[in-house]
Amino acid sequence: MGTKNSRIAGFYQLSPEQRLQEVKSFDGLNEMDLTMLRGGNGILSVARADKMIENVVGTFELPLGIATNFQINGQDKLVPMAVEEPSIVAGASFAAKLARAGGGFSTSSTRALMIGQVQLVDVPDVDAARTAVLAQRDAILELANAQSSSLVKLGGGAEDVEVQHFADSPTGPMLVVHVVVDCLDAMGANAVNSMAEAVAPMLERLTGGRAYLRILSNLTDRRLAKATVVLPPAALARPDMPGHEVVQGMLHAYAFAAVDPYRATTHNKGILNGIDPVLIATGQDWRAVEAGAHAYAARNGRYTSLSTWRRDEAGNLVGELEMPLAVGIVGGATKVHPAAQAALKLLNVQSARELAEVCVCAGLASNVAAMRALATEGIQQGHMALHARQIAMSVGASGTLVDLVAEQMVRERNIKPARASELLRQHTDVYI
Ligand code: MEV
Repeated sequence: MGTKNSRIAGFYQLSPEQRLQEVKSFDGLNEMDLTMLRGGNGILSVARADKMIENVVGTFELPLGIATNFQINGQDKLVPMAVEEPSIVAGASFAAKLARAGGGFSTSSTRALMIGQVQLVDVPDVDAARTAVLAQRDAILELANAQSSSLVKLGGGAEDVEVQHFADSPTGPMLVVHVVVDCLDAMGANAVNSMAEAVAPMLERLTGGRAYLRILSNLTDRRLAKATVVLPPAALARPDMPGHEVVQGMLHAYAFAAVDPYRATTHNKGILNGIDPVLIATGQDWRAVEAGAHAYAARNGRYTSLSTWRRDEAGNLVGELEMPLAVGIVGGATKVHPAAQAALKLLNVQSARELAEVCVCAGLASNVAAMRALATEGIQQGHMALHARQIAMSVGASGTLVDLVAEQMVRERNIKPARASELLRQHTDVYI
């Protein structure tokens, strides 16, 4: 048992600098460590970060890359991606380049409908309760909409009420009332949660039950974005493999994900590799999108691939990705984080739906890159150079030494920290 105590009373009341000093004494960090934790050299100041979340000691940076070559509904886009994993930005850009041969990506999306859930237990008469709730639909919607006049003014807001009954649960039967809300350009979590909380007392009166949870659902299956891509075999061909063989390999890759949840999870992770970085760069709640994506992938009772792939009559590989994408371009971190604002400006999207459509294209592009690599040379070949650079940096290489050490490790096919250290020592000796 250690003697450290993480119970630091009043931590939240300290300034970021005072919190850092507490953190320092907790775990033997030195001044350099504190400088790293403090961050703050970037555009998101510690003062601003301190207003965004609790117990702030600094800011944390990620590489921000720009994926190139995207053509979406005939418009060229540069896509900002914040992510730590090598190959993602390169893979998405490469796939977007291949996609241009078939006209780029085409997209569509549904309205931004979210669901607020109110859980009611101890309901004496389920049928009577259901009837009472539905009879008061308009009053419930009016009360919900009183919570978000701005949404309503813009043409959105709560628009429907639904009742679900779960006859059995670990604590007995329950009634769940859904308030369906059009969130327009907001992600909508705040509006939907406020509405759910506001209508709960009325629902208690109407049903005679007791309300417990009042919260949005992240399974936003009425807020979908879809992207389609057509890849001519010639674009997919490799020097050592004709295009139609690559198409066949990629169809096998898809089929594997379609039938096997173990593979589908990784396949979908590859899709989210393209989406999460755009979400992060534009200040979105990427956990919400992740949760919705995986739940949607299991919507038919078995977890499967989010994307579908087929060969068309001309022999082209045609991919489609449709999934929940709850994003916003107003409110939340999009407005507070200066880099997120600039990223949104770069994307030049006019609506949350347009942003969702860009995200789903980035996801489909990542899926293409992964499937093509997996179905041909394997994933490690392309990863090796970038991975080697990370290993080189992890043992302390900087500047030109990163490439020198990395390239040699790739040549030797020996990409290990021990080898990187050795090479770094050798090269450093030469330079000193
Ligand atoms: C790695 O981050 C993502 C992949 O595993 C995706 C996939 O397997 O499709 C390459």
